[in-house]
Amino acid sequence: MSIIIIKTVKEMHALSDSLRMQGKTIGFVPTMGFLHEGHAALIQKAASENDIVIVSVFVNPLQFSATEDYGIYPKNFEGDCAIIEQSHGNILFYPTKDEMYPANFSTSISIGNITNTFEGFFRPGHFEGVATVVAKLLLSTKPHHAYFGQKDYQQTLVIQRLIQDLHIDCSMHIVPTVREDDGLAKSSRNVYLQKEEREQSTIIFKALLNAKNAFLQGERNRLILNTYMHETLSALPQFDIQYASCAEAETLHEPDIFEEKSKVVFLIAGYLGKTRLIDNMVS
Ligand code: PAF
Repeated sequence: MSIIIIKTVKEMHALSDSLRMQGKTIGFVPTMGFLHEGHAALIQKAASENDIVIVSVFVNPLQFSATEDYGIYPKNFEGDCAIIEQSHGNILFYPTKDEMYPANFSTSISIGNITNTFEGFFRPGHFEGVATVVAKLLLSTKPHHAYFGQKDYQQTLVIQRLIQDLHIDCSMHIVPTVREDDGLAKSSRNVYLQKEEREQSTIIFKALLNAKNAFLQGERNRLILNTYMHETLSALPQFDIQYASCAEAETLHEPDIFEEKSKVVFLIAGYLGKTRLIDNMVS
């Protein structure tokens, strides 16, 4: 069975309304395309839990700053369709930029607190762009369930807030990060890595693991846990660290000492050459 491709919001509304009228459950996987095994895992999970799976492919200009890679973001339409089909997705929502942002478009959704640190600090305006497009995509596709990867950890917290605060009638599911055999988190941007950088990039996984293991062995001092990550990463001076820090997993608060039973997230972001890499691990 081949997938249905929908390019306008009007057609998407009509199709989702009709599926809902038929009593079908809709799972939704928003993406920016150039799909990989991480996206496939999201689509497969959505397919195992819903009657119909909608995948969106839209490179959202609002979430890129002027110095970021919007203009060169990798694309592979044929490959994306194949992965959606193989992963048992049914519908591709594939709007143009003008369809999503017509000339008079001027709304922006700002989530507040949780967006001030980590990614939000290093990418000002990024989460406003993410929240705005995710709200528009959810309103366009009208899913019962939406699926997001843990790889973009702070994004999952932002979207959780968005869904709760705007009373969006959709439940959110977070799917574990898919990794290469050597630990590198799958990402559409990994294609930018030169061969040597690709080999070096595994240090991020090792740094996260070292800090997480220290936590599991009883270390609760946040700065000491951060030092585990920084010390591991210092073996690769080419990695330009933006942050290598841990925080409470649900709030991203950074106490001096974590409570004994705290759930903690370890987060790393930085540049390896021209490629920005992010990753995380939860205790
Ligand atoms: O995670 C992504 O790929 C994007 O941030 C998303 C959720 C599709 C919004 O553009």
